[in-house]
Amino acid sequence: MTTPAPIAKFTRLRHATFASRDPERLLDYYRTVIGLGLVGRNGNRIYLASDSEQLSLVIEPGEAALTRVAFEISPNVEMEAVGAALKQSDLRPELRSDPLPGVSRLLSFTDPEGTQFELIQGWTPTPAQERIGALAVTKLGHVALRTPDPLATSEFYAKVMGLRVSDWVEDRFVFMRSGFEHHTLNFVRAPVRSLHHLAFELRGAAHMQQACDHLARHKLNILWGPVRHGPGHNTAVYHRNPDGHLVELFYDLDRMIDEELGYFDPRPWHRDRPQRPKVWVGLPRDVWGLPPSPECTEFAR
Ligand SMILES: [Fe+2]
Repeated sequence: MTTPAPIAKFTRLRHATFASRDPERLLDYYRTVIGLGLVGRNGNRIYLASDSEQLSLVIEPGEAALTRVAFEISPNVEMEAVGAALKQSDLRPELRSDPLPGVSRLLSFTDPEGTQFELIQGWTPTPAQERIGALAVTKLGHVALRTPDPLATSEFYAKVMGLRVSDWVEDRFVFMRSGFEHHTLNFVRAPVRSLHHLAFELRGAAHMQQACDHLARHKLNILWGPVRHGPGHNTAVYHRNPDGHLVELFYDLDRMIDEELGYFDPRPWHRDRPQRPKVWVGLPRDVWGLPPSPECTEFAR
């Protein structure tokens, strides 16, 4: 029996939208700490781009929360057909024209737990209207969401949006990939759907050291790391932004360049050779680094 094709396939993670009670304070954090730049404003919405001139973050007024996540899908599918299939699955699709800087058309849908996802095809550069300083992260790397049922949620995203499971931590944390990188969307067991953490990619070890110094200069406590994780093997450091959201900065994430091979490109720090997707059980999972601080324990993955 063949598995039915997904409705569409998430490819690259594009941007995330956050509501904030103090959008200007959050804007200041993303400008002066993370290193995104202001593209423009539309009414009370704020658009921020990375140094690669790609829209990375949208901020709008409201109770502090992640409100939407945008993924790119293949240019070879008809948005209308995807919309019709999403409608058939009761996922409340909505097609919009010129909704965001650098995005000509956007199809949104709402997943069974109420998170809105946006599907985008292609992009045009949206350079910041200012010189980008601070950390100038390379991109938004992944988003981790809480869910009461990670298994059902991972099956939904595999079936509907073509995500592949990279690793599980026991039965409570699932890492899913949309491209060759180990994870772009994760789900962790918790009573209700909300953001668990978001992560920005750094260029390497020197950039990580610069990031730690930079966080200290901004009096943002490092809550975990630097640590080299087990699942994904990324080197990571965590802090909370002014809205209390956990933000990870990372580099060196595992890559499955060739899906056909079914294992991650061999790296010296892997314990399994080859390193295939698996269920991680027991401690220590991390290759090196101390456990998370008490302020971060609910986060321990
Ligand atoms: Fe992460």
